[in-house]
Amino acid sequence: MARAKILVADDQQRVRRLVAATLGEARWELYYASDGLRALQLAREVRPDIVLLDINMPGLDGFEVCRQLKTDPATRHMAVVLLTGRRDPESQIRGNLAGADAYFVKPFSPLALVSKLQELLPRAVAEQVGMGQPGRTDGAPGVLLPPAALPMGHVEPPAVVTTLAVTGATGSTATISAVEAQQMLAYARDLNRSLEQLRQVYAELERSYLATIEALAAALDARDSATEGHCQRVTGITLLVAEQLGIEGVELKALHYGAMLHDIGKIGIPDAILRKPGQLTEEEWALMRQHPQLGERIIAGIDFLRSAVPVVLYHHERWDGSGYPFGLSGEAIPLGARIFSVADTFDAMISNRPYRRGLPFERALAEIRRVAGTQLDPMVVEAFEQAFERVIVLPAVQGAQTAPIAGIDVPLGTSSIADLPAHHAR
Ligand SMILES: [Fe+2]
Repeated sequence: MARAKILVADDQQRVRRLVAATLGEARWELYYASDGLRALQLAREVRPDIVLLDINMPGLDGFEVCRQLKTDPATRHMAVVLLTGRRDPESQIRGNLAGADAYFVKPFSPLALVSKLQELLPRAVAEQVGMGQPGRTDGAPGVLLPPAALPMGHVEPPAVVTTLAVTGATGSTATISAVEAQQMLAYARDLNRSLEQLRQVYAELERSYLATIEALAAALDARDSATEGHCQRVTGITLLVAEQLGIEGVELKALHYGAMLHDIGKIGIPDAILRKPGQLTEEEWALMRQHPQLGERIIAGIDFLRSAVPVVLYHHERWDGSGYPFGLSGEAIPLGARIFSVADTFDAMISNRPYRRGLPFERALAEIRRVAGTQLDPMVVEAFEQAFERVIVLPAVQGAQTAPIAGIDVPLGTSSIADLPAHHAR
């Protein structure tokens, strides 16, 4: 796609380099002039969309260049932006009388300048087309007066920054002017503002990701009616235990996503198997055991979900190697999956099922302790015990035993770790 053309006319090389760094050569085709006459000549030759003009230039000043551009039918469609150190109202009035489209006083905000150029550009291009001007000769002339021979496609740091670096090395006092120093501050402020905007966009993106995952998890929970609230509970417990182990930042986020989506592979398991009230046949069981790999296949191609893969793929592995799908043991199982496994086992025991009441929390804790070192990682179990008081007050955990129990109610305390849903127990 053709880039828009901008002519930068300023007698100071530093300013030309600053503007080059601000705009970047990827989006704009930049031309440079160091005096007023050359600016006029270049404007007629290359027909830029926008002319950025300094006011104080040798030969013709910026007002005069602007006036001539705006009175010549061949060039008056070009948008002219005056870039100057003059803050007095009189100069601005002179700029308006000369026909300037915008007036920027140094130090200018780089973001504001880019924004103004974008605003001016469609109008400049539209007017060019509307006036029947000859089309642009893209790529014909190169950079006619490069700012200190900047290589094409490469933007050096603004000259003022370079100067400061030299100053620091020699230990001499500042060699930049007050205006340049102010301009640097303007850059710093804009950079800060850009970073803050980026941070806000990133946070919003994260919220969208999480909302998407929560919706997916809720859909999974709704389909598997025996495990209402399961996702919220195992996620809450997993995060508490992970924090107890000192996990934070992106690793904690990966665990959050992994716990929410651990059973996403069940999307590929038919209802007749997933919701079967009785025991599964060998064939059905073989299919059920594929859900970690199905899940891995579903999310591995989605960038923001990829970090959830270790939990999704390994959440049925057991510390002693008796799990599935790979029969991994010990620390060969990713830590996140070992943490999740403790949370999942605890939840399976405390939750009401249609056919039995959940275990009291302390009984479930005793069962967890009993299988530390066989089914579960003892180090993670220890962290679970340390986090236990916080685990049992989680609202989702408190709600685990409110689900209705259909049919014959098994008396409290008769459940055990073996009394888990078919896909957990085997
Ligand atoms: Fe599972």
